[in-house]
Amino acid sequence: MDKPRSEGLVFYGATGDLAYKKIFPAFQRMVKAGVLDGPVVGVARSEWTLDQLKARAKESIEKHGGGLDPEAFPKLLSMLRYVHGPYTDPRTFYEIDRALGGAKWPLHYLAIPQEAFETVIEQLSRGGHGRGARLVLEKPFGTDLESARRLNDILHRCFDERSIFRIDHYLGKEAVQNLVFFRFANTFLEPIWNRQYVENVQITMAETLGIDGRGPFYDATGAIRDVVQNHLMQVLSNIAMEPPPRSHDAETLRDEKVRVLKAIRPLSSDRVVRGQFRGYRDEKGVKPDSTTETFAALELEVDSWRWSGVPFYIRAGKRMPLARTEVIVKLRRPPPIAGVPLVSNHLRFQLGPDFQIGLGATVREIGRPEGHPLELMASHDHEGGETDPYAALLSDAMRGETFRFAREDYVEEAWRIVDPVLDDGAPSIYEPGSWGPAEAEKLVPGGWAEADDR
Ligand code: BG6
Repeated sequence: MDKPRSEGLVFYGATGDLAYKKIFPAFQRMVKAGVLDGPVVGVARSEWTLDQLKARAKESIEKHGGGLDPEAFPKLLSMLRYVHGPYTDPRTFYEIDRALGGAKWPLHYLAIPQEAFETVIEQLSRGGHGRGARLVLEKPFGTDLESARRLNDILHRCFDERSIFRIDHYLGKEAVQNLVFFRFANTFLEPIWNRQYVENVQITMAETLGIDGRGPFYDATGAIRDVVQNHLMQVLSNIAMEPPPRSHDAETLRDEKVRVLKAIRPLSSDRVVRGQFRGYRDEKGVKPDSTTETFAALELEVDSWRWSGVPFYIRAGKRMPLARTEVIVKLRRPPPIAGVPLVSNHLRFQLGPDFQIGLGATVREIGRPEGHPLELMASHDHEGGETDPYAALLSDAMRGETFRFAREDYVEEAWRIVDPVLDDGAPSIYEPGSWGPAEAEKLVPGGWAEADDR
């Protein structure tokens, strides 16, 4: 049975940074695609007028949304409403109901710090404001296993799991979706996608940016909480999962992803390298003696029949030499040909900033007996580039489609894995523009496949 589409959307944190950088641009795209056509109610504590909110939407879309669409933008403006007031005040929620104009399946999007989640959820559950509603929660979901469990408990008192949408914007990325598709759509991969042929898997998320003015948030968070527990664990499960059984139930896909995480033992300190870029402690909002990591490299093992003994390495860092998110699946090295040693082959999935797939092969050097590495790259960017992950995810949530969102058991499993190494002592200092502390290099026997080696 088709699920009803939400006919109204409420977004909390309407005057905030996320709304400015990502949400208004996503709304314009959704209006253009015909997914958003009812009231769009911005909620925040600031005493703004509706005109102020409209001006903010305009500036946001001009700056971050590729410009104003002559049809979609005026339509979005006509749908915008603004409610201001404290989240602790029930009157705020009566105002929201009024602005929604009787929508039966409204979507409530909590683009606010997670400390405020509980208050909003309680207000929604009281007085029936949340009846029929879908709830979208921005990341981070919890700060460790215990807090994630607590948050899940609070949510489940008022909402059914199928009405809860935990955002991880990586799941809205075409390139991340394609990992699963590419694996199962190409027969040549399955025979080699296992411990017999794969030597290791390396997932790198390198950013040249620092913390970009988000000092207080980042300093309380660090790389493991910010991107490893969520984005990179999602990438890992897409690489490692089993094909879901043929079924029309989207839950089977989420079941398989949870199964991968269940096969991973919690991290131990000796398999983790934490780093902090020099100068981080001078950033605004960062404690002068902060031990928050801006870089993490770690090794995991998926203890399943397919992957037993194959290390999965993850590294993520700010202020790296280049900006790139990619996965290298390194294959076992072939034996020498006529005494000539060979290097290993690999598959490369570049997830950002460009969407590319590479096949690392070896050809015979012209006129010589040695091998020469050659990478066959296929660019998979479609016209107009990557679709907007926020528009994609919010559109799914409007339709009640849960499969691109993190399920309760998934987030808890992911926290279980990283929990023992959160806030695990002082990180090593690394130079901005380097690949992190030297110890990170030693984590991978034979070294990391350099992201810029082609
Ligand atoms: C966010 C993190 O979730 O993802 C940021 O909070 C990070 O620190 C960002 O920079 C990276 O996203 P993307 O889409 O640019 O890879």
